[in-house]
Amino acid sequence: MNLRGFADEIFAWGRAQRTDELALTWENHSKGAATVAERIALRAGMDADLAYAMGLLHDIGRYKGEKTGMNHIIYGYELMMEKGKPEIARICLTHSFNPKEKVKILHLGDPEKEEFVKEFVQKTEYDDYDRLIQLADFMAGSHGITTIERRFCSVLSRHELPEPQQVLRKLYELKDYFDKKCGMNDIYDLFHEELNGAAFRGIPGDFREYCKKEEA
Ligand SMILES: [Fe+2]
Repeated sequence: MNLRGFADEIFAWGRAQRTDELALTWENHSKGAATVAERIALRAGMDADLAYAMGLLHDIGRYKGEKTGMNHIIYGYELMMEKGKPEIARICLTHSFNPKEKVKILHLGDPEKEEFVKEFVQKTEYDDYDRLIQLADFMAGSHGITTIERRFCSVLSRHELPEPQQVLRKLYELKDYFDKKCGMNDIYDLFHEELNGAAFRGIPGDFREYCKKEEA
């Protein structure tokens, strides 16, 4: 089976493990990240199937449920290692740490696992696939593809974010890196249709979902 087929199959399996309401948010986010990663990879001359698989599976550890919190990175890593896919396992860990120093404040509730992730991330030299999925993660919201600006605001409105300016600056650096790598002024042009659709709705999908949850 090719990598794309593998990714679709594993994701479908993971999705079937969850019946809670937030599973759809996870599905939309993962599929959005897969599309973003694939389209940028194609334009940048990278392996589009690998990028798709990494985008779709970067949060696969959430098959254990939304309450797993940051532990989803380790569950995803373990699952992908078990399946013999170390290149995707690596992404399950690295996608959450941009800048890399963020790993220093990681809390998993298990000192051994924490130490493992910290060491793994510190010693990993990020490549274009690590960078691509970090960007794709921030261009995928609970309704699918969005801009890093919207995603960032959505995350900021829901979570405590240490050093938000630094995070936003790093995201702009990433976008700038791929703008150049794609030979474009703005990679958002690759997502014209999806982003226009989001603009037409007036408010970011993420925020609408957030308000609904607040009302409930
Ligand atoms: Fe994600």
